[in-house]
Amino acid sequence: MYLLIDEKGREYLVKGVSDVHTNYGVITVEKLRKENVGKTIESHTGRRFFLLKPEILDFIKKAKRGPQAITLKDCALIVGYAGIHSGSKVVDAGTGSGILAMFLANIVNPEKVVTYEIREDFAGIARENFKKANLKNIKIKSKNIYDGIDERNLDLITLDLPEPWMVVEHANKALKVGGFLVSYSPSIEQSKKFYNALNGFRSETVECLLRNWDMGVVRPYSRMLGHTGFLTFARLIEK
Ligand SMILES: C[S@@+](CC[C@H](N)C(=O)[O-])C[C@H]1O[C@@H](n2cnc3c(N)ncnc32)[C@H](O)[C@@H]1O
Repeated sequence: MYLLIDEKGREYLVKGVSDVHTNYGVITVEKLRKENVGKTIESHTGRRFFLLKPEILDFIKKAKRGPQAITLKDCALIVGYAGIHSGSKVVDAGTGSGILAMFLANIVNPEKVVTYEIREDFAGIARENFKKANLKNIKIKSKNIYDGIDERNLDLITLDLPEPWMVVEHANKALKVGGFLVSYSPSIEQSKKFYNALNGFRSETVECLLRNWDMGVVRPYSRMLGHTGFLTFARLIEK
């Protein structure tokens, strides 16, 4: 796979198996394969492109979306606040488009992420995204997580589904003491219900608002992505 960036910053994630047709002309597959990553490359009209090796963030940006996917800022907060690292054992539910699972798998590698999903159509979208990103350490489980968690001694369970309180008892059995159960909910009513169900956990709920700045005029952009969701971090302190 290759990442091409044109003069306007538009990005093209391409396999390198056929010619690439862009707003700035065609880049032939022969040219793409011949040029080294890190160099610039020219289209048939003489426009310049930067040629990069795509990283996980590029695959996430270009991933196919089915149900509402979690944002990068919320993924980052989950990993940071739960202290996840290479080797951490993680279960995620529901898979949806697999965005959070991809973000987590890239970090816990060589350990794998097990992600639960009840809908085969969404699992199909996620599977496609994992394949494109060449992530081999994610296992999709076709199972309702409200019925239980098979894995044990986990460092982290992430929930992005409508009734997270239904998972608390299962999480108590599946997590190791000191592990985190993290729930992402768009509504504070869901977060409160989840909070009320926590037993044996110490928790905090946060919301992350991210504001980008236009450094040309040195002020924040007038538009921003407002509310995405509330994150509750529940740490298991006793079984
Ligand atoms: C909002 S999406 C998750 C998006 C995902 N976090 C991402 O980053 O792409 C919610 C998903 O949870 C699945 N789901 C809902 N209830 C579930 C359950 N009880 N067990 C497993 N999956 C469930 C839905 O089918 C849906 O795909």
